[in-house]
Amino acid sequence: MAREYVKPRILQQKEGMMNKFGAVASRFMDAIEGVKVGRLVDEYGSPLFVLSERAIRQQYRHAVREFSLLYPRVQFSWSYKTNYLDAVCALYHQEGSWAEVVSEFEYEKAVKLGVPGEKIIFNGPYKPYEALKTAARRKSKIHIDHMEEIAALERIARELKQPVEVAIRMNMDTGIYPMWSRFGFNLENQEAFAAVSRIQTTGKLVLKGLHCHIGTFIMEPNAYKVAVQKMVAFTRKIRDEFGVGIEYLDLGGGFPSTNTLHGQYLPGSQANLGIGKYAEAICGELNRCGSLFDKPPLLLLESGRALIDEAGFLIASVVARKRLSDGTAALVLDAGINTLVTAAWYKHEFIPAQAYSEILENTILYGPLCMNIDVVRPLISFPALSAGERVVIHPVGAYNMTQWMQFIRYRPAIVLIDTKGSPHVVRKAEDLAYLTELEEIPAHIREKKFRGRLA
Ligand SMILES: Cc1ncc(COP(=O)(O)O)c(C=O)c1O
Repeated sequence: MAREYVKPRILQQKEGMMNKFGAVASRFMDAIEGVKVGRLVDEYGSPLFVLSERAIRQQYRHAVREFSLLYPRVQFSWSYKTNYLDAVCALYHQEGSWAEVVSEFEYEKAVKLGVPGEKIIFNGPYKPYEALKTAARRKSKIHIDHMEEIAALERIARELKQPVEVAIRMNMDTGIYPMWSRFGFNLENQEAFAAVSRIQTTGKLVLKGLHCHIGTFIMEPNAYKVAVQKMVAFTRKIRDEFGVGIEYLDLGGGFPSTNTLHGQYLPGSQANLGIGKYAEAICGELNRCGSLFDKPPLLLLESGRALIDEAGFLIASVVARKRLSDGTAALVLDAGINTLVTAAWYKHEFIPAQAYSEILENTILYGPLCMNIDVVRPLISFPALSAGERVVIHPVGAYNMTQWMQFIRYRPAIVLIDTKGSPHVVRKAEDLAYLTELEEIPAHIREKKFRGRLA
């Protein structure tokens, strides 16, 4: 068979383990959890998201163990927005996780999946009145974001003729900048204290917990230690002032996955300190303040990306190989930024799914969209793969399968490989019928016959 002509280029490669292009070793990944990439694509198409059930369960159990070894009362709540596929949420609930939701849609999903109301944490800056009322009725853990929500909940308490149990979300300076101060009540400027005063003055709500989520992809465990110190000091202050007894502290999420941020020097797999360091920071501090509470407060955690990112893979296929006018190498993949949203934050690993030439070249990886912004990796030292060859992108389990956008192309299927190595479709690939299901053409526009004129 005639081979395709490829214009030659001379690139200096030094012999040995490493050179300036990285390790010259052909590392490829032709199977995920023992299932061949080729088989997955043949059966479910490309691109394709693949989730590993083993990795999800293993990482969850690891996280629970790390915290439970250090503190007696720990409860994880699955952060729905990180990945709210029914199968994924059900898996976490099967492992014992509660649900953490930030909208009425997510709340309804948790209820549909059988999570009891009191095991649903309701966060977020916008909880419509009826959703708040349902959550109050079901005795969910409502975390108040702003004064308007306090007023709404007081009205709900009057309507339900019973006090509503609540927590407030706080934000504070933990040494992480820019500070996330847009959610909840600020501690340093006394906003949080004002919120508690209001709750205590009107007496319709019962304050049971304090919540904070200091930010996301926090590489510094000490920031959580500071958060606990400040929350405990605040607990003491409101106990002394109002006699409030706090029963739980929710430290939110924010632990990093092993992804590598753009601009991060070390690869994520080396920079990540492991969830145990976060457990030490949080539990160590909590254990120091035992005398303040009758019994240790329940520690709630809403970790998202640190639990699921590594369990997710995206298989993409090479559509074309190009050279830009300045000579830069480029590959067009069939998965773009609408599918791999986290490409905006991370330098994912792009691993060829087949053996390849060891000559690497700085390459741009484009997606398939007819949009200039569709770049899934602006620069990567990469082999010159050919059309039809495949790439496995990892870790992609967090936020892609929720933030992905239907734009120009159908969203792909998602497959979960079970612990015995069998793949299951957990979300089908989209098609035209699905996409147009909600659309309608007003009668006066509906044409019997296409009237477009030919030139
Ligand atoms: C309130 C809250 N909890 C938990 C999470 C999960 O965060 P992460 O995925 O960084 O652990 C988020 C994400 O932004 C959040 O806003």
